[in-house]
Amino acid sequence: MRRLIFIALLAIGYSTTVGADTPNEPQKNAAALVERFVGLLKPQLKQAMADGGPTHAIAVCADVAPGIADSLSAESGWSVKRVSLKSRNASRAVPDAWERKVLLSFDQRQAAGDPPADLYYGEVVKGQYRYMQAQVVEPLCLVCHGAALAGDVQETLQEYYPDDWATGYGLGEVRGAISVSGEL
Ligand code: HEC
Repeated sequence: MRRLIFIALLAIGYSTTVGADTPNEPQKNAAALVERFVGLLKPQLKQAMADGGPTHAIAVCADVAPGIADSLSAESGWSVKRVSLKSRNASRAVPDAWERKVLLSFDQRQAAGDPPADLYYGEVVKGQYRYMQAQVVEPLCLVCHGAALAGDVQETLQEYYPDDWATGYGLGEVRGAISVSGEL
């Protein structure tokens, strides 16, 4: 009898643990993909800036950033991309209705004082888990997304991105977000 109770307790313990963890599993996967995106891109951006300055870094970013999004998507089976209310890459970064809503809420939360690390949001939408993490403007970002761009930076951006909206940002503002979605 004791043994049965013990087994029953074990089973209850097990099922509550699984039950508590399951809803968080997609969020963990999504957050891990976001972390990998940033971890792959940022060092290459910084390296390119150090090697050849911002115009060289723009050329590198134009190639590397979409490449990272595509390879993480292929590897995970999830959709991994970056979006913005003021997109630079017109063919990739224009948000859909759900993403737009979340980006607007990030702007509001940022203005209300939420720290950058807290600016994430995930929910199930039509059977898919969708998750976004805001990317906030740091001093480094101002070189290519700020209000006062150097002449050669402006020219290079025009060359690569004739429909660029992604300038005029100030420190701490939400530049955009990494958006991840996948089947549950
Ligand atoms: C050397 C110039 C440069 C710097 C510095 C830079 N970016 Fe960008 N950023 C770009 C380019 C070029 C793209 C378009 C890349 C592409 O085609 O996907 C871009 C795109 C983005 C996007 C994707 C959405 C869109 O509008 O296309 C986000 C989000 C973003 N940058 C955030 C940042 C943040 C945050 C920082 C600072 C940590 C930063 N960037 C620093 C050049 C730069």
